[in-house]
Amino acid sequence: MGGAIGSRVRPTILGIEPYVPGKPIEEVQREFGLSEVVKLASNENPLGPSPKVQEAVVRAAASLHRYPDGGATHLREALARYYQVPESSLLVGNGSDELIKLIAETFVEPGDEVIVPTPSFSEYEFAARVMAGKTVPVPLGEGFRYELDAFLEAVTPRTKIIYLCTPNNPTGTYIPAGELEAFLRRVPEGVLVVLDEAYHEYVEAPDCGDGLALLKQGYKVVVLRTFSKLYALAALRVGYAIGDPEIIALINRVREPFNVNALAQAAAAAALEDDEHRRRSLTSNREGKRQLYEGLESLGCRCVPTEANFILVRVPYRSTDIFQQLLRRGVIVRDGAAFGLPDYLRITIGTADENERLLKAMAEVLQEMALQRAR
Ligand SMILES: Cc1ncc(COP(=O)(O)O)c(C=O)c1O
Repeated sequence: MGGAIGSRVRPTILGIEPYVPGKPIEEVQREFGLSEVVKLASNENPLGPSPKVQEAVVRAAASLHRYPDGGATHLREALARYYQVPESSLLVGNGSDELIKLIAETFVEPGDEVIVPTPSFSEYEFAARVMAGKTVPVPLGEGFRYELDAFLEAVTPRTKIIYLCTPNNPTGTYIPAGELEAFLRRVPEGVLVVLDEAYHEYVEAPDCGDGLALLKQGYKVVVLRTFSKLYALAALRVGYAIGDPEIIALINRVREPFNVNALAQAAAAAALEDDEHRRRSLTSNREGKRQLYEGLESLGCRCVPTEANFILVRVPYRSTDIFQQLLRRGVIVRDGAAFGLPDYLRITIGTADENERLLKAMAEVLQEMALQRAR
């Protein structure tokens, strides 16, 4: 592959499959000749960005000829005020995806081990592999709940990082605060714990752990959060890490000088100030969650209780078949087979109308499949 140059590729690269994202709306429209397509596949905020964000982006567009603020100074100041943490504990990335890669570049040497929950977000493994690290998967337990002892048992002298994603993608399950703190007390010194809290803002469970609170208590975790989900800025790519200033300064060494573009920085700062949009988004998610729980359960699908803006749903037929049939009806969800869960779909919570379309399409598909099976 690639001739003489290709034969000199770093071997670890050959083990990496390019990421396959949720299908874009336009592709499904073209493929099936549909005008209206609903996308509930990538855990985006269905309400879209706040009008204040859109105004901030237009204002910032007047300065597109200038390089962005390389240190994301204004945004870091805003985040520091919002969370009551020092600016030196914050690092802004081109999505939290970039931060996951920067963390691997900072710490992982060939052969080092990175412990990851399974099933969970694939970027942890991707980033470790790019650095020729080895991922050590730890399966979630009964009901996709975290069993943190298993993570401690997986630690070896080569372990550099433990990733915990809470609420976890794609299961929506979370780590209770008491369990998380007890775990952190037992993690050997020298092992970095990264808490990916991309969906933290959606949490309703009062006992869910909070990485920021633990950081303030002195635990040396790195917490990842993002503007892609609740704040509806997935297209602009802004995520941030909060951690011990010394660790943050190390990760900052491998950051590209202008990693977050100017429109994204302006949008994120405006989004953080818009309480009303945040509240509206949370209400919509809460109501949509109830609507989908009820509708899906009445169709005979079992929902894994979620603390995020998506639901993992156990379906009565092969998930890939249902996924394909939903696509034909203009509804895009995520096939659980992509996460090694061939009996599950991951469905993003949409607006009331989008959820209704999903439920209607799902009812048709399941009825058709039941008939086929009976034949
Ligand atoms: C658990 C988790 N972490 C991180 C990300 C990436 O977020 P970002 O858009 O900030 O790169 C996602 C996106 O789906 C996610 O599910």
